[in-house]
Amino acid sequence: MIEFKYAPSEQVDEAAYQTKIDEARTYVARAQQDDFGGWVDLPVNYDKEEFARIKAAAKKINEDSDYLVCIGIGGSYLGHRAVIETLGGERGRTKIVYAGNSLSPRMLEKAIAEVGDKDFSINVISKSGTTTEPAVAFRVFKQILIDKYGEEEAAKRIYATTDANKGALHDEAVAKGYETFVVPDNIGGRYSVLTAVGLLAIAVAGVNIDALMDGAEEERAVLISDGGAAAEYAAMRNVLLAKGYDIEILANFEPQFVMFNEWWKQLFGESEGKEGKGIYPASVVDSTDLHSMGQYIQEGRRALFETFVEVQGEYRGVTVPSFGENLDGLQYLEGKELDYINKTANVATREAHKAGGVPVLEILVPEIDERALGGLIYFFEMACALSGFCLGVNPFNQPGVEAYKNRMFELLGKPGYEKK
Ligand code: PA5
Repeated sequence: MIEFKYAPSEQVDEAAYQTKIDEARTYVARAQQDDFGGWVDLPVNYDKEEFARIKAAAKKINEDSDYLVCIGIGGSYLGHRAVIETLGGERGRTKIVYAGNSLSPRMLEKAIAEVGDKDFSINVISKSGTTTEPAVAFRVFKQILIDKYGEEEAAKRIYATTDANKGALHDEAVAKGYETFVVPDNIGGRYSVLTAVGLLAIAVAGVNIDALMDGAEEERAVLISDGGAAAEYAAMRNVLLAKGYDIEILANFEPQFVMFNEWWKQLFGESEGKEGKGIYPASVVDSTDLHSMGQYIQEGRRALFETFVEVQGEYRGVTVPSFGENLDGLQYLEGKELDYINKTANVATREAHKAGGVPVLEILVPEIDERALGGLIYFFEMACALSGFCLGVNPFNQPGVEAYKNRMFELLGKPGYEKK
């Protein structure tokens, strides 16, 4: 179970907080009933037949591929990369290479070079099937796959995760006979990591997707009636925003969370940043970033608050060795677990930043494992929806994403986008 804590301070208006919690709790039903609220009940009603096909496809890919090239961007990319990297990376034979999440030729060449002449398969993930970044990368890797294996075998190595009924990728998959998985209509990209969008790559990486879904189901059971701790976190964010704290930094002391932070930033940024409103989501991984961003957080403009993701479990194995001398001045740490030192740095950072006028929130996670991560993902999805409703925006749309695309298509000469 995920817990939420905060350090009481003069910046937190307790009465406003209690009122906002009551409001946030009323929005659980609204999220569940929304046309894009499919993620609310997903952990208990996901498609078991498709889930079994995902496992079978992952097994085949593990048997016949050294690499899985995962092609997608935004909500069709960040979730699975976040889960895989937070859990420590690929565990078996098949390594994941990511492509189609930018238009950089350097990055694409790097991905091609990494796959080299090894055996590989492709999971192309795109709800619309027309997003330029993944569409271009798919063309490039599809050509390489066909050159290597021929059309027939290449088609057996392409897994398309897309709309169930329509779109360019769907139509191509049907025409060419690719195995397909579904991006559900009622779940937006940034809420879709626990659908086929994320699960195929996660399973290929050797992660136990049953445990991941179990964790989400357990967290749903805790939150479904009144939002539980997710409603408290959502309410606190809005109370702080009303006081002028319009930047939130997600902080943790585990570098394996770097991509999880990116997933979280998309979730909150795309859900809340609209109509001139929203909290700007930022992130740090400490203690690394204390040596780059720590100065600003401690003493810069007082408009930010920090949310620390705290892993409760202990990690044993690395201790500070004993020497007969104390030339480096570290004798006082001899025999101490590095995890203890890391956690102490975490406590010290929270205390120092709070003393510097930064409101400090905490999200407590039992462990870094599949179950806990499934729970954490569900917790943040629920908190994000409730927080967006408290803010007075629709947390499930992203109309602003189209602006750059329309101008880019105009500049690139895409038919139908000629300058008016
Ligand atoms: O969250 C979202 O909706 C977006 O990030 C999309 O997932 C992203 O733009 C990719 O779109 P598509 O899956 O249609 O290629």
